[in-house]
Amino acid sequence: MAVAIEDLEVVAGRDALGEKLFQAVLGTMDIYAVYLGDRLGLYAALAAIEPATPGELAGATGTAERYVREWLEQQTVSGILACDNPEAEAADRRFVFPAGHAEALTEVDSPGYVAPFARIAVGAVDPIRELVAAFRTGGGVPYEAYGADLREGQAGMNRNLFLRQLGTEYLPAIADLDARLRSGSPARVADIGCGVGWSSVGIAQAYPNVRVDGFDLDDASVAAAQGVIVEAGVGGRVEISLRDAADPALVGRYDLVTAFECVHDMSDPVGALRTMRRLAGDGGTVLVMDERVAERFNPAAGDIERLMYGFSVFHCLPVGLADTPSVGTGTVMRPATLRGYALEAGFRDVEILPLENVFFTFYRLHV
Ligand SMILES: C[S@@+](CC[C@H](N)C(=O)[O-])C[C@H]1O[C@@H](n2cnc3c(N)ncnc32)[C@H](O)[C@@H]1O
Repeated sequence: MAVAIEDLEVVAGRDALGEKLFQAVLGTMDIYAVYLGDRLGLYAALAAIEPATPGELAGATGTAERYVREWLEQQTVSGILACDNPEAEAADRRFVFPAGHAEALTEVDSPGYVAPFARIAVGAVDPIRELVAAFRTGGGVPYEAYGADLREGQAGMNRNLFLRQLGTEYLPAIADLDARLRSGSPARVADIGCGVGWSSVGIAQAYPNVRVDGFDLDDASVAAAQGVIVEAGVGGRVEISLRDAADPALVGRYDLVTAFECVHDMSDPVGALRTMRRLAGDGGTVLVMDERVAERFNPAAGDIERLMYGFSVFHCLPVGLADTPSVGTGTVMRPATLRGYALEAGFRDVEILPLENVFFTFYRLHV
């Protein structure tokens, strides 16, 4: 009996999707397991004592040996850790990091540090039940509902960019701004939506003459930022305050006003950009760093946009919709969308700066 071409196509499509989702389930399990290793200090302890048996690692981390054994074996079959002696009795097997993996999972200052990826991925789905309800009602899920994992994962993802590249590569590439921030007369910077404060720290460390005021709407982020600036030794020149960026009462005069990866989260981005314009006056520089997405929707956009849509569905869009009214931007804020917001907020023009970054586009907003 002849089989219709359409039937073959249906079977092939069905099986290809099955395989794709099977691989995705494996990836999801890897992310959850990396989260456990990071959260419980298992990777940090293993890096210090490897090779280690399950009992030794459990002893070093205050965790239960039976769970740790299962996790170590899972990590090994997943290719994240390795086992020196797989033929030994379970309790006697010794586990180690393959070359490079300890750096990727434990060294916060390494450019290849990836553990925060797991933390933010878990944090982004923490309030999944609220999200299911929000899809039905059209309401949002507040930032606080995502908790410490999202907040710390977000901070960890951007920390190295802020501490290693912002003040040495990106801001110096804007010659007039760099000259102003380096000049003898003290400059002021307003860092809108500063989160836990690494961007404010990075700017203060790169430019010893500047004072930075960081503003954020989230209590827990502001509290964490107070600790971060003291620990980084810039507490005397950086101040963090709990403020809504769209608050018309937010005033001052600043040489640089920044918004790093936060405009797309805001329910009222035009109000926040209006504040930024006011704070910069006629002489200040306004800089927005936001997701590097294409000019328009493209089904074949690729992995970065796929990642951004993922964060949008689970986190940024519901967070943006938590207030009423809200424009509901989402993570995939296209350049034309930001341009529209900026013009509405009173800016004359938006320039995309020629700065290389896989994840972010840097916009300079001109008055
Ligand atoms: C994705 S996080 C980015 C944090 C930080 N800038 C970074 O790059 O890691 C977005 C931040 O924007 C803050 N935010 C959102 N709406 C805000 C508003 N209207 N005013 C001040 N901060 C706001 C959130 O509280 C959150 O800390």
